[in-house]
Amino acid sequence: MNRIGILGAMPEEINGIVLLLKDRKELVKGMRTYYLGTINGVEVVVVFSRWGKVASATTVTHLMVEFGITQLYFTGVAGSVSPDLAVGDIVVASSLVQHDMDARPIMKQFEIPLLGKTELFPPKELLEKSFHKVKKLESAKELLQLISLKQREMFFISNPKVFLGKIASGDKFFANNGEKENLLRLLPDVLCVEMEGAAVAQVCFEYGIPFVVIRTISDAANESSSVDFKEFVGQVASKFGVAIIQALLKE
Ligand code: ADE
Repeated sequence: MNRIGILGAMPEEINGIVLLLKDRKELVKGMRTYYLGTINGVEVVVVFSRWGKVASATTVTHLMVEFGITQLYFTGVAGSVSPDLAVGDIVVASSLVQHDMDARPIMKQFEIPLLGKTELFPPKELLEKSFHKVKKLESAKELLQLISLKQREMFFISNPKVFLGKIASGDKFFANNGEKENLLRLLPDVLCVEMEGAAVAQVCFEYGIPFVVIRTISDAANESSSVDFKEFVGQVASKFGVAIIQALLKE
């Protein structure tokens, strides 16, 4: 039996996805509410991961052990580090790195102890299928139709694009250009930063569960990121998150 875990990094986004559930049941454990049901006939479990690596790794482990998920989708927001990205763009992770993992001199920087890897990769087939489905949102201009003219102007969103690339995760909110540039010096091909994806990817890899991480850009990881982040999450991200999950669950 297939059962898909849907992990959201924002309660706002989870609320929108929960409204799509048929035959909904709720279970509370460990300060998290797990919502079970079906979307488009697919069995799913939806939960807010809470923020950071520990919280998200714990939640995804719970999804595997208690609910027996066979696949995982993770959605949420991220700060852009690549100048090619704008607020409202979407990144599908082709690989994930834990930018705060540093066990030097025992191991090389970013290497995950005992795995001998610095990067984690979603399974190729699931990644390609997911990217293709999310990319369709861009060409159909579906994302733009979800937000008002005022919101488009407020966040300078004119034509949200969908990218495939590397995401860096760690227990840090990036809120200045200096820190962002330091990260880019070490990891020049990273597109955006967030606080959960690579931790979730590690657990999925260790348990052999196929996963995909998808992020909407909420801010530019600079001095204005905390304000931009809050505004964007409240007004736009939840709508984009729901559209992304609906696209992924379409056959
Ligand atoms: N998630 C969204 N914006 C972020 C930022 N600037 N730093 C880390 N995680 C984020």
